[in-house]
Amino acid sequence: MRRKLVAGNWKMHGGLAANRELLGGLLNQQATVGSAACAVLVPFPYLAQVSSALAGSRISWGAQDVSEHVSGAFTGEVAAPMLADFGCTLVIVGHSERRALHSEDSRTVGKKALSALRSGLTPIICVGESLAEREAGVTREIVGQQIAEAISVCGAGGISASIIAYEPVWAIGTGKTASPEQAQEVHEFLRGILMSASVEAGQVPILYGGSVKAANAAALFAMPDVDGGLVGGASLLVSEFMDIWRAASAARY
Ligand code: PGA
Repeated sequence: MRRKLVAGNWKMHGGLAANRELLGGLLNQQATVGSAACAVLVPFPYLAQVSSALAGSRISWGAQDVSEHVSGAFTGEVAAPMLADFGCTLVIVGHSERRALHSEDSRTVGKKALSALRSGLTPIICVGESLAEREAGVTREIVGQQIAEAISVCGAGGISASIIAYEPVWAIGTGKTASPEQAQEVHEFLRGILMSASVEAGQVPILYGGSVKAANAAALFAMPDVDGGLVGGASLLVSEFMDIWRAASAARY
C-alpha cells in the first residue's frame, strides 16, 4: 500500500506572524493524526522560518519552484542545492500557474525535476488539462504528453523517486473539484504510463490537487489511485488542513 501524503501549497501567501500561527496550530495537533505524511511548500523567504519551526516534527517542508540550473548568472532563480541547505525534501515543479504565467513548457519542467533529484529532493511534478482541453476531450493527450516529457528527461529511475500531482487547471482555486471518479480516471491513466516506464515508477504517489477541502478529501482519497492531495487555499487554515490530513490517514487504500 502506498503511504498517503497531504502537501500544502501556500502559493504567494503568508508572513512571519501568520506563518508562526499556522505552523503552531499544525504542530499542536500533529500527534492526533494517523500515519499519512504531511508537508508544507512555502515561499522561498520563509524556508528558514519553516525549517526551524518544523525540525524534528512529523511535517516536512519544501519550495514551490526550483531552477533547472545548479548555479550561475540566473538573477532571481533559486537552485536545488540552496533548497537542500534549508532542509527541503520536496519541491513543486510545473505547477499550472508557472506553466501559464511563466511559459514553462514540459521540457523545462522535466529539467527542473531532474535538478531537484540531483540534489536529493523529491520533485512533485504537476500535470493537468485546462477546461477547454477537457471539453475538447483531449485530457489524456495533454497529461500523457506532460508526463512523458518528464519521464524522458528524468528517466525511469528519476521518475520512480518523484511524486506526481494531477491538478486539472479548471479545478484550481475555483471551488470546482474534480469528482472522485474523474480524478481516479486520470490517475489510473497516469499510473499506466508510469508503469510502462518501470514497475517502480508505477508505484510513485499520485496526488490530486484542485479545490481539495475537508468536505471532499475523504471521497477523493478513497479512490485506489489517489495517493493524497496537493492542497492550496485550504492549507492556510489549520482546521481545514488538519481535517484533510486526518482524511488521508483514515483512507482505506
Ligand atoms: P487549490 O490549489 O487547492 O486552492 O485549488 C491547489 C494548487 O494549486 O496546488
